This record gives sequence, C-alpha cells and structure tokens, in this order.
Amino acid sequence: MPLTFLLFVKMPKGRGAAAFGVFMEKKKTRIAVFCSGGGTNLQALLDAEKSGVIQSGKICLVLANSRSAYALERAKGANVPTAVVTRRETGSQEAFEAEILRILREYGIELIVLAGFMSILSENFTSKYPKRIINIHPSLIPSFCGKGFYGLHVHEAALAYGVKVTGATVHFVNEIPDGGQIILQKAVKVHRGDTPEKLQRRVMEQAEWKILPKACEQVSREIAKKGETYERIQNQ
Ligand code: GAR
Repeated sequence: MPLTFLLFVKMPKGRGAAAFGVFMEKKKTRIAVFCSGGGTNLQALLDAEKSGVIQSGKICLVLANSRSAYALERAKGANVPTAVVTRRETGSQEAFEAEILRILREYGIELIVLAGFMSILSENFTSKYPKRIINIHPSLIPSFCGKGFYGLHVHEAALAYGVKVTGATVHFVNEIPDGGQIILQKAVKVHRGDTPEKLQRRVMEQAEWKILPKACEQVSREIAKKGETYERIQNQ
C-alpha cells in the first residue's frame, strides 16, 4: 500500500481552471541503523525501503563505531546521513553512549536497528529506548548467543556442537545481551562439509536478509500507529 495519497480538487471550468494535488504523507518511524563492518544487513534494509517492504519507517541515519566500516559506503551510496562514534575516541563507555544519544536526539530517531553492531550497550542506554531497539543475531536464540557470541564465532560454535539446524533471530534489545523478547526467527539447515564462512553466508541469505527488514517494518508500523515520537519516549 502506498503511503502517499494524492487528492485532486477540481477548480471551476473555464479560464484558470486547474487541478491541484495535495500530498498527505503518513508519518513514518525515523530509523537509525547501527553497524560495525560490512553492512550486508544494512544493504538488505536499504533495498527493502526502496522496494516497499519497509514502508512504515524511514532510514534517517547510519551510525558506525568504526571509521573503516564498509557500511558507511553503503549508506553514502543510498544518500543516507552517517555518523561515526568510536569507544576509543570518546574515552569511556559513558561518553561513547552519551555522544550516540546526542546524535539520536539530533536526528529525532524513534527506532534503532542493530545490524551487525559489535558493541554492547549498557542498561543506561537500552532503558532509554524500551522496545525501540532491535537486533539481528545469527543463530536461533537461546542457542549460541550472549556474551562472546558474535559474527563468525556463532557459526563456529554451531558447527562444533554439531547442530543440524541453525538460523537467525530478530529480538528487542534490553540490558541482557541477546536476552530481549523475540520478534522473528527463521531456521536454516546445516550441510555436511559446511565451514563457518559457508554457513554464515547461507544464514544471511536465507534468514537474516529476510527477517530483519520484515521485523523492521513490523516494529516501525507499531510505532507509527501509536504516533509515539522520540520526545514522548524520553518523557515516559
Ligand atoms: C551478521 O551475521 C549479524 O547477524 C551478526 O554480524 C554479522 C554482520 O554482518 N551480528 C552479531 O553477531 C551480533 N551478535 P553485516 O555487517 O554484513 O550485516
């Protein structure tokens, strides 16, 4: 369903007769995507916005915690504003998070999507955005998740354990690493002879790049429906 409605108001016939359009845009949820590396999940989100899979939200900012994150190039390619905040340059976790919060306020962000963001955010941060931060994790939570399980390590652990099925999970983020309420999950088969890299790619293609945009639309729609703005969230 298109979000823009075009209303034609007919003017009287004869000289000066005209038709003019009034565009009414439904309010979209303002999204920030946080990344650390390659940004293939960011790319899936950008593509989903372009194709209309994401129609209740708008990606207004891409924030990286590393200057070399390729995700920044993807954002620039899609004309999305970028910001870089590094833990090293800010000096402490508090200063790191304070700077991120300042930028989020500047952009009026209502939903944060962690798409391969490899920094753990403290309770001080996550409590400011209850049910407004979602994360993609490359396993079926509660397997292979929590502290130390990120990126390729997750797939190494799944292969070492010998599971026959793995997958991906999108969940809300709270103070417990990978512990928030599950939004969507998708299972992916492990093949004989898989390497961590092969399995990672299959999980991305078959699960992550599908369920992350879908969950993003689902949560954006809920937020847009409630009409909750960042200011209102902050004042709770
Ligand atoms: C993805 O597989 C994502 O699920 C994972 O890192 C990769 C980032 O790839 N995230 C975690 O492990 C978080 N615990 P990308 O930068 O190409 O999207």
